[in-house]
Amino acid sequence: MSIDYSQKIPNNVNLSDDRALQRALEHWQPAFLDWWRDMGPDGSHSFDVYLRTAVSVDPSGWAHFDHVKMPDYRWGIFLQPADPERRIHFGEHKGEAAWQDVPGEHRANLRRIIVTQGDTEPASVEQQRHLGLTAPSLYDLRNLFQVNVEEGRHLWAMVYLLHRYFGRDGREEAEALLERRSGDQDNPRILGAFNERTPDWLAFFMFTYFTDRDGKFQLCALAESGFDPLARTTRFMLTEEAHHMFVGESGVSRVLQRTCEVMRERGIEDPAEVRAAGVIDLETIQRYLNFHYSVTIDLFGADQSSNAATFYSAGLKGRFEEGKRADDHVLKSDVYRVLEVRDGHLGEREVPMLNALNEVLRDDYIKDSLGGVARWNKVIEKAGIAFRLTVPHKAFNRKIGTLANVHVSPEGQLISEAEWQANERKWLATDEDRAFVASLMGRVVEPGKYANWIAPPAVGINRQPMDFEYVRFN
Ligand SMILES: [Fe+2]
Ligand SMILES: [Fe+2]
Repeated sequence: MSIDYSQKIPNNVNLSDDRALQRALEHWQPAFLDWWRDMGPDGSHSFDVYLRTAVSVDPSGWAHFDHVKMPDYRWGIFLQPADPERRIHFGEHKGEAAWQDVPGEHRANLRRIIVTQGDTEPASVEQQRHLGLTAPSLYDLRNLFQVNVEEGRHLWAMVYLLHRYFGRDGREEAEALLERRSGDQDNPRILGAFNERTPDWLAFFMFTYFTDRDGKFQLCALAESGFDPLARTTRFMLTEEAHHMFVGESGVSRVLQRTCEVMRERGIEDPAEVRAAGVIDLETIQRYLNFHYSVTIDLFGADQSSNAATFYSAGLKGRFEEGKRADDHVLKSDVYRVLEVRDGHLGEREVPMLNALNEVLRDDYIKDSLGGVARWNKVIEKAGIAFRLTVPHKAFNRKIGTLANVHVSPEGQLISEAEWQANERKWLATDEDRAFVASLMGRVVEPGKYANWIAPPAVGINRQPMDFEYVRFN
């Protein structure tokens, strides 16, 4: 499954055997590049960036590192190898051979799933396009650009499926993916969190930790799909996604490390004094966490959803690690507990599991995201500081599903509108918080140097030395 780089579009799907498809994608390619020039990282087009490129889909050695100009990055189509024996392993088609083509009756739903996933990929590039102007180091700048080019490649991954399997409406959807814009009033991206701004590097690290992890869970659920090309595409995307979450987890960790260092050196705890020392106070970090976490868990959708049931029963979208679960993988008689508001209290209610599959995936996500927060707290603990970060209650600041209509504190208490108003500034990043964080953002471009508010990483990318020139500006 090595990748053919002699083609205009690198691929491991024998694109040159299908002339019509190749032509259609080669027609979309310049439109993609136009989009990258307009909406990709601001002012970056002549930089040489130390990037990894996929040269194989073999897990033991798939990445090649070199300095490239981002518009010359070889965005391509890479699918995990096919298993001719693969069977659908959940839903009503369980036991049947996996589909190599789109079943007519599931066509509209599959297209919708692919478009929704595809739309998030360019959206995050748009959200992050100004961050390069304030990167705290060349190392961080390079990581931002790596995430950006790979989100561009994830767009290619979804566009390939649309072009290859959905004919004319697939091609139209592929064009629309380049036309919507994050945050645009008239033509926004499909999902809420992808229309929020990512204005500073703390937001970027929180986004890559929390929101790219939503990507991981969605991709894991799609990697189970009975539609085999979707499963094979998303499996390789997951390999790339792991780095994005690393950028987020290690980024927040380095911010905490630096803050704690300064707090300890100066013996200060008061957030105002911490800010005056030029680092981000732990309280502000907590408010950013609360915001990104709550906005991200909304991405899993309504707690009860007949669409989720349909997607599962039809074999289109599985659960996280479907194959490791011990139930019947049809779920017709299973139940699941979801939150509900009853008599002024938050309680739980049992509902048919098929309808609660968004909630199942959200709960798996929540478990996974707690791990990094515990590791962040270790950094604070090691510095001998009593503060601990916490993940807010699942019902906090929700805008989708049953919980959208109530106010809940980070501890999970149902509260009144007035209590919410009185406390919101303590719980969610305020304009003042964001202005303070923005005031620290300044571009550091000397190799091996880091902005004052963030600690250096433990090791370089691809084991490069600390003063490595990850980005050359030319
Ligand atoms: Fe992605
Ligand atoms: Fe990502």
